[in-house]
Amino acid sequence: MEWSECEYKDNGIDSWNEVNLIYSAALKQVQTKMEVLNDEFQHVHRYNPIEHIKSRIKTPESIVKKLKRGGYESTIENMIKYVNDIAGIRIICSFTSDIYRIAEMIGEQKDIKILCIKDYITYPKASGYKSYHMLVSVPVYLSNKMVATKVEIQIRTVAMDFWASLEHKMHYKFEGDAPEHIKAKLIECAKMVSDLDARMLSLNEEISSLSTQQEVYS
Ligand code: GTP
Ligand code: MG
Repeated sequence: MEWSECEYKDNGIDSWNEVNLIYSAALKQVQTKMEVLNDEFQHVHRYNPIEHIKSRIKTPESIVKKLKRGGYESTIENMIKYVNDIAGIRIICSFTSDIYRIAEMIGEQKDIKILCIKDYITYPKASGYKSYHMLVSVPVYLSNKMVATKVEIQIRTVAMDFWASLEHKMHYKFEGDAPEHIKAKLIECAKMVSDLDARMLSLNEEISSLSTQQEVYS
């Protein structure tokens, strides 16, 4: 079924094009907020917690797939209700401590409503996946209405992102039925990623404390 055939109306949103417009607007808003926070952090602390940001709107094909998997009919109403990651933004930072700093800053934004948090850093998935997920809602103001729109924010380190990309590739290639030895190797790599992140964090702290005493960076 094509989205254009959908006849459902929810929140006054009645076509795929409008859904796309609203979620794109929500994504832009969150992205700009993150850039502002990063700039402010640079201004105050002379440090950028965010390495880079990636964002994407889920394709109609994968939205339909996800709805099917959940046993829902492909309607605009269902996609808004059940698909939480139509708008997705990934914030990549250097250190684990940055992740919590960014999450806290997001939580303090008055117009962002936090709907759900999944801390896969404190509680990694069995696959070894680590990342901090926030499902938020942001108001999108159109000419005649305001639409509260869901955005999935994933915050992770460069190393976690590297790992997740390869693990995702494996899933995609084997359609969830990957050979055991590959899964085991990935779990091993996940441990190395955690170890690397911990070491890099403590090394960074050591370097920072030295630089203030000895003014290594003039
Ligand atoms: P879906 O997995 O998207 O159905 O949503 P969910 O409700 O289970 O939420 P969850 O927070 O577990 O996952 C949301 C997103 O996080 C996924 O779409 C992926 O982008 C990412 N993710 C979650 N688990 C894994 C994992 O084990 N490996 C990788 N590479 N990515 C994951
Ligand atoms: Mg999942």
